[in-house]
Amino acid sequence: MAQLKILLAHPSSEWLEASSELVRSQGYEVVTADSGKHAQIAIAQDKFFTAVISEDLTNHSGSQVLTFAKSKSTGISVIFLAEEFEGDKWIKLGAQSVLSKEAPIEEILRIFEGGKSVNDLLAGTERREGVSDEVEVSESDAAFTSIKIGEFYSSKAVLFDVFIQLGSGKYIKILHAGDTFSQERIDKYKNEKNVEYLWFKTSDRSKYIKYQSHLTEKLVSSQKVPIEMKARFLKNVTSKYVEEVMSEGLKPQIIEQGKEICEQVYQLVEKDKTLYKLLRSYQDFDPSAVDHAYLVTLFTTSIIKQFEWQSQTTIETASMACMFHDIGKMKMPPKLLNTRPGDMSAEELELYHNHPVLGAEMIDGKNLINNSVKQIVLQHHEYYDGTGFPFKKKGSKILTLANIICLVDDFVHMMIMKKLKPTEALKLILIDQSLVSRYNTVIVENFIKIFVEPEKLKKLTSNQ
Ligand SMILES: [Fe+2]
Ligand SMILES: [Fe+2]
Repeated sequence: MAQLKILLAHPSSEWLEASSELVRSQGYEVVTADSGKHAQIAIAQDKFFTAVISEDLTNHSGSQVLTFAKSKSTGISVIFLAEEFEGDKWIKLGAQSVLSKEAPIEEILRIFEGGKSVNDLLAGTERREGVSDEVEVSESDAAFTSIKIGEFYSSKAVLFDVFIQLGSGKYIKILHAGDTFSQERIDKYKNEKNVEYLWFKTSDRSKYIKYQSHLTEKLVSSQKVPIEMKARFLKNVTSKYVEEVMSEGLKPQIIEQGKEICEQVYQLVEKDKTLYKLLRSYQDFDPSAVDHAYLVTLFTTSIIKQFEWQSQTTIETASMACMFHDIGKMKMPPKLLNTRPGDMSAEELELYHNHPVLGAEMIDGKNLINNSVKQIVLQHHEYYDGTGFPFKKKGSKILTLANIICLVDDFVHMMIMKKLKPTEALKLILIDQSLVSRYNTVIVENFIKIFVEPEKLKKLTSNQ
């Protein structure tokens, strides 16, 4: 099968080099042009699926090249990189999408990769010029999913209805599927009305995530894509913390599996109304909580995968426990969230030490939560050497899954608080005997195995 051809026209040779590598790694054939003239020659001689044209080309401007492309080549879709966002100007000249000049190539790639499915989706949707009126909707919160407004991203038209929340069960539909995407309107809500989240129907969101993770998977499994690029892409897809996870030292296939598991757990939780509501109110209480839980799930399942006794059931049990392990913190005064245990008063410490107990109570009796999940939540701060809390359990009295989560939890907290790369956080744990003795040795060994070149790392730490 012939490869689809992409033209990249941009004045920066660095940009062209990095971008063509990424685009090629996705299976496209790439032609580059560093001036408007070269771009036009290429368009005249070849047939392209998509052209990415930067406004600031010289020797024929981007705008001239766009006009030329639309007059010469039928069926070419142009993604225009504009210096300033000027709404419809470029669309009227024939561009399929307009992005900021600063847009990372991953986003551009996402648009032309999404071209087909976007059109497919739109084929069944009535298209309108401009934006429909706002409509107030009363519907159960369980039907909606939020996305941070700054992370909202769409191309020419929105594919889903987009809402803002007025209060529990009350939403305003601000964009209808098929509306021409209006960045201005989104900005208005963000800047003038301080709206932090946009809402989708949950049924639409799974489509969105599915497509996103499909792209991510392709990108992450590609050997040719530089790790920083993967990290940047992942940042858009999941969360800012995952970027740090991906930034160094982990085996990509392990991360891939972990991500898949996380997705599955989320989907499961989403199906259970009361559990989902709990998770969401937890996120409202502490916006970083779900990211934290996500990372804990990712690493925990990666460790479990190293054990011979692992099974689907143990992984599901552990993931569910990871997702809710700190939920008891919701019952603590909010200011304690940002206080380190070392800085707490005796009274505050007592409250903090009780969060596993409160958490286990909160999830008790919910569908999907069995006794093992509850026990793990209860024990996620018990240490192997008996110095943990709340019950000071010791050694084999502690569930292995709970001790794994305990290690990962400490590791993730350390990584995020101290802004460390995963390998650096691992090293810090390994060189501190008082930390290592908190966990079963076999667990620590299996943890090391999920990092690239564990032998090197071991040597390094034994020299210290
Ligand atoms: Fe905790
Ligand atoms: Fe935690």
